[in-house]
Amino acid sequence: MESRLPRQNVQSPHCSVEMTGNHFHTTQPRERRVTHTMGQQLGRRSWAEPWKIKVVEPLYRIGAADRKRALETAGYNTFLLRSDEVYIDLLTDSGTSAMSDRQWAGMMLGDEAYAGSRNFYRLEDAVRTYYGYPHLVPTHQGRGAEHLLSKTAIKPGQVVPGNMYFTTTRAHQELAGAEFVDVIVDEAHDPDDRTPFKGNVDLIKLERLVHDVGADRIAYLSLAATVNMAGGQPVSMANVRELRALCSRHGIRIFLDATRAVENAFFIQEREPGYETRSLRDILFEFCSYTDGAWMSAKKDSLVNIGGWVAVRDEELFEELRSLVVLYEGLHTYGGLAGRDMEAMAIGIEESVQDDHIRSRIGQVRYLGDLLSGWGIPMVNPVGGHAIFLNARCFYPHLAQDQFPAQTLAAELYLDSGIRSMERGIVSAGRDPDTGDHHRPALELTRLTIPRRVYTQAHMDVVAESVKAVYDARANSRGLVMVHEPRLLRFFQARFAPR
Ligand SMILES: Cc1ncc(COP(=O)(O)O)c(C=O)c1O
Repeated sequence: MESRLPRQNVQSPHCSVEMTGNHFHTTQPRERRVTHTMGQQLGRRSWAEPWKIKVVEPLYRIGAADRKRALETAGYNTFLLRSDEVYIDLLTDSGTSAMSDRQWAGMMLGDEAYAGSRNFYRLEDAVRTYYGYPHLVPTHQGRGAEHLLSKTAIKPGQVVPGNMYFTTTRAHQELAGAEFVDVIVDEAHDPDDRTPFKGNVDLIKLERLVHDVGADRIAYLSLAATVNMAGGQPVSMANVRELRALCSRHGIRIFLDATRAVENAFFIQEREPGYETRSLRDILFEFCSYTDGAWMSAKKDSLVNIGGWVAVRDEELFEELRSLVVLYEGLHTYGGLAGRDMEAMAIGIEESVQDDHIRSRIGQVRYLGDLLSGWGIPMVNPVGGHAIFLNARCFYPHLAQDQFPAQTLAAELYLDSGIRSMERGIVSAGRDPDTGDHHRPALELTRLTIPRRVYTQAHMDVVAESVKAVYDARANSRGLVMVHEPRLLRFFQARFAPR
């Protein structure tokens, strides 16, 4: 049919269009290179961030000589760099989110009354609605909450089992006199194992521990959602449900580190049969329902620059937390925060459970992960919720763990491009308080942590190229020696020198 229709040619310097009947056929000039969007390359339609930018903060690239000088001054520890010396800052997703226009508007509704601020009641309501805990104590950030809970729920000499340690959490548990025992599934320690829920508690390890030490020596089970130190790996709903049954049989409480529980809910929705059509909000609520309480660093999931809380079901424990918060943080209706911070947090909680938000947040992390794993860069798989964790042992097989491969990799990345990452290996693990020796974690990782709603896909491309450049030059890296070691949480302030 078409062949009988008249053909006409339309020529312009930029395009050549041939028309057959009422169809246009465009032919590109021969010399033009065709570029493809990322969606086209992947055979699907592209996605875009579900926000537009209203305020911008300029970024500056720093010259190679200045980066070298800055890193030397910082003792090869990225925590000791000034942020002005950093180009793309992937140190942490903690307190680094961009707040929404609604949150900034909420800041203007701050009620700075010393007692009974209306923003406290808004926050209390949001925590009850989305997390389901009736009794809330606000704190200035997560470790304030860890401190209060450890002091009230642990008796010296007790044991705290948990699904992998977290730095500040374990430090507070140990300061309160407990011994932390890792009961996470073995797969969590293997960066190449692709099990979907590598954050799960190993119920057999836990049962054995209860048998060995006795249930009354167990202060509580410390359950982290999307386990940070394992690479942001989630816990399944089935696991927390079984955990509840086991702990109830032995009279053991479960307290949840809810810092990234919304991201955990996303993985349940995506990976766990029966939850595909359930909303994030529902999944989060059900997950929390199996626990006795939670502590929270709201600087992550809840999209605020500062804030935290501890919330529980038990009234007696609540009374104790309420007495202590007055001593360490501030009155029980502000806990070290301004009223406006609590308002922003209440709004952030509502925004954090929106499907569009979390899909794009985790999608961005995955985008970076897909680029890097496509190039054969060693990292923890599957990619978790908040960061890419590069496997520094495989970057530098020629470096012993005492030569700090992950710290070395963070330093090399900064030297290459001004991108700031963070060590999550032997330095973060600290020392055994009894033997004084280094804890030697199986995972020796460098974390590229993605702040929420801050960077675009173009930034991810720049990061990926820098990681590749460092990977290609990996044979030249000689490792570091530690020249200054603080007693507590040494990774924040330790200093190093090249070997
Ligand atoms: C899993 C987890 N728990 C607790 C904390 C401590 O919270 P904050 O930094 O707000 O004191 C963090 C912070 O990085 C974290 O990632």
